[in-house]
Amino acid sequence: MNNGSSSSSSSHKISKNFMIALLMGMTFGFSFAYLLISVVNWNSLKGISFLPNRQSELDEHYYSHDNYHHDSDLDPHHHGQLDSIKGPKLPVSFHDLEEIFHKDEDIVARHLAKTVRVLCWVMTAPKNHQAKAKHVKETWGKRCNKLIFISSEEDKSLPAIKLDVPEGRDHLWAKTVGGFNYSYHHYLNDADWFMKADDDTYVILENLRYFLSTHNPAEPIYFGCKFKPFVSQGYMSGGAGYVLSKEALKRFVEIGLPKDHPDKCPDKEEGGAEDVDMGSCLEALNVTAGDSRDTLGRGRFFPFVPEHHVVPGHVDRNFWYWKYIYYPSQEGLGCCSDTAISFHYVSPNMMYVLEYLIYHLRPYGISSYVRPQDQKLLEYHHQQQEPQTQIIPNEKIIKSKDDNSINIKRNESLKLTN
Ligand SMILES: *[C@@H]1O[C@H](CO)[C@@H](O)[C@H](O)[C@H]1NC(C)=O
Ligand SMILES: *[C@@H]1O[C@H](CO)[C@@H](O)[C@H](O)[C@H]1NC(C)=O
Ligand SMILES: *[C@@H]1O[C@H](CO)[C@@H](O)[C@H](O)[C@H]1NC(C)=O
Repeated sequence: MNNGSSSSSSSHKISKNFMIALLMGMTFGFSFAYLLISVVNWNSLKGISFLPNRQSELDEHYYSHDNYHHDSDLDPHHHGQLDSIKGPKLPVSFHDLEEIFHKDEDIVARHLAKTVRVLCWVMTAPKNHQAKAKHVKETWGKRCNKLIFISSEEDKSLPAIKLDVPEGRDHLWAKTVGGFNYSYHHYLNDADWFMKADDDTYVILENLRYFLSTHNPAEPIYFGCKFKPFVSQGYMSGGAGYVLSKEALKRFVEIGLPKDHPDKCPDKEEGGAEDVDMGSCLEALNVTAGDSRDTLGRGRFFPFVPEHHVVPGHVDRNFWYWKYIYYPSQEGLGCCSDTAISFHYVSPNMMYVLEYLIYHLRPYGISSYVRPQDQKLLEYHHQQQEPQTQIIPNEKIIKSKDDNSINIKRNESLKLTN
């Protein structure tokens, strides 16, 4: 490493000039680039359709978000940040349904599950079957009336349905078409509402059913986190998940998919961002983009984790989200309804944390509101006038003779044969 001793003074001079030129070039080049980037306000360019096609604009929206960096894996803002995150290696155990603390607390929810039936189809990919989809199935997915995973490879353990589409983000529209088409052809009469979610979406089914119970599935409508650009009535963010009424699903498959479909419904092979495509297609089919806010104007479907929405100033005012949302949203806890339905970019570990926080942890002495009609249901239940058909598997309702109380007893012999 001692070449310097053999160099002539002229070569010294050349290399010195070279170094100076290089340094100056770097300095000026850097300054120029820096100035240019500072002067052009990239954010103001968003939403203006100067780009040659919508896809590149959407790619920026969905897959780069480079104007916003966040260093926490716990609060990802695009899919790349969640790709490498793995879930728990060992199976996670749950609490016993029989535990006194939770006994009979879900009577109203169990009743709603029979009257507001929700099919959930989860968009996944072969590399995520075990890393992500499995944890959806273990957590919120089990509360859907019907749960299916849509992928490009079969996986009997989930089960994942193989669609004949290539893998990758370019083919999300084909997968979306396939997911709804499959739901229509196999389960149209098994559900009233049809929810699409990602394998990193977390859904609180009880709140979804509560919200939907005031809507008619025969109405052409769909709900989700409504975004403003690209579609005049707005469209629903894909990641937060969105739910179609039975009538909306029928129109999508019967009118939106056949060869003579409206122009606004892209062919399966075409299409860019699936949520925008879905939004423009449903608009063409006269399916209303519904308002899912609660009576206090707080949202229910969210495209990020709770931290993002709940902590004021957590994300920059220039972050695309603020420009995309259809309804104004408060910062802080005012953002989010107490009957929120979905969050996105939820890691598998966080799904188990949410399970614990939402379904197990209880502040003692605080119980939550039920509507008057549900109050009646509770009274019926306690008077045993409700037919006791909703027996949880492995459990048996034992009626005691002397009073009207009901005890749920585990059927041990059945449990042992499992
Ligand atoms: C929808 O599913 C049916 C039945 O499986 C199939 O025949 C049809 O080709 C599918 N349509 C699309 C657009 O994928
Ligand atoms: C949607 O509504 C418009 C205006 O009422 C009507 O012309 C059109 O046929 C409708 N399309 C569908 C698919 O129902
Ligand atoms: C428990 O389940 C087994 C198998 O289904 C059944 O034969 C038995 O009668 C049940 N026992 C009680 C106490 O219900």
